[in-house]
Amino acid sequence: MEGYVPGEQPDDSDVIKLNTNENPYLCSPEVRDILNEIDAAELAKYPDPLCTEVRKVIAEKHEAGTRNVFAGNGSDEILALCIRAFVERDGSVGWFDPSYSLYPVLAQIEDVETKPVALDENFEWQMPDGYEASVFFLANPNAPTGMLFPKEKIEAFIQTVSGVVVIDEAYVDFAREDCMEFATKYENVLVARTLSKSYALAGIRFGYCVGAVPLIAALYKIKDSYNVSRLTQELARVALLDEGTKEAITSAVKGTRDLAVAELKDLGFKVYPSEANFLWVKPPNPGAKKIFEELKKRNIFIRWFDDPRTRDCLRITVGTNEQMMTLVEKLEEILGK
Ligand SMILES: Cc1ncc(COP(=O)(O)O)c(C=O)c1O
Repeated sequence: MEGYVPGEQPDDSDVIKLNTNENPYLCSPEVRDILNEIDAAELAKYPDPLCTEVRKVIAEKHEAGTRNVFAGNGSDEILALCIRAFVERDGSVGWFDPSYSLYPVLAQIEDVETKPVALDENFEWQMPDGYEASVFFLANPNAPTGMLFPKEKIEAFIQTVSGVVVIDEAYVDFAREDCMEFATKYENVLVARTLSKSYALAGIRFGYCVGAVPLIAALYKIKDSYNVSRLTQELARVALLDEGTKEAITSAVKGTRDLAVAELKDLGFKVYPSEANFLWVKPPNPGAKKIFEELKKRNIFIRWFDDPRTRDCLRITVGTNEQMMTLVEKLEEILGK
């Protein structure tokens, strides 16, 4: 197998990094205060294996019980655990194509049958009747397209499929609606969230999921003993209590997203409707690969996925207004406008 290829993390601080859907703003000031107060002696002790305090905050936020919440080392850890917990050797894993490129890799690692479902030509929902998979990963908003699937289609799917539907809401704070209510309404649903995007905390590695107690208990049975560090548990707890900062920085990103959409359309790009902190665009000539390479030469990193379904498009993370304006200037140069 080839393994997952993450976006580049260059050391060079001159690079404008629009390639891994990070948040360009500072996280909660509460997080920064806690970092200044750390007692190094505490770090000699193992962390709470059950992440009790942060799970209480999450449970309250989503009006669920603490036993309905699992905390993980980023949501990536949770996605991997879902396959190990819910897919038998003769079971199967599904996802939409295109979607988050980690899903197929996780299925390959566990060597289970894969059942990808092709989205239609506009990257919209398309599901064969009677489709079944032991686990179906449903990124909503989807990645790399940023598009939100209709909620009624998701609910109807949950009702017909017997496997576990993992609704991966990594980008949902940038969208107009979410599916968290399904986590407590249905026995076969987990809704996963992360602090990596809307909370500007990709570096601490914290994700969680909410769902029925038997599903959550299964994840706890198989996880590493101390899967979330002591520091991360505390930083995540205070970040989650500070909804104000999250709201402020997500609405700044959404404002810049609107500006960037207008500018890119002016330059002749087809821009898919984004409800995430990135844009999925189909560029004019000289085409996606060439533009990706030319931007890289100019120190702007974006993402190009070399796959039949995705190679005509580019994924651009929404940065600050200033970063996006620099991007537009460089694109004008490349396109000769
Ligand atoms: C759809 C989707 N899910 C999950 C993740 C991973 O999030 P985390 O940083 O919490 O592991 C990403 C990261 O890019 C993503 O695009």
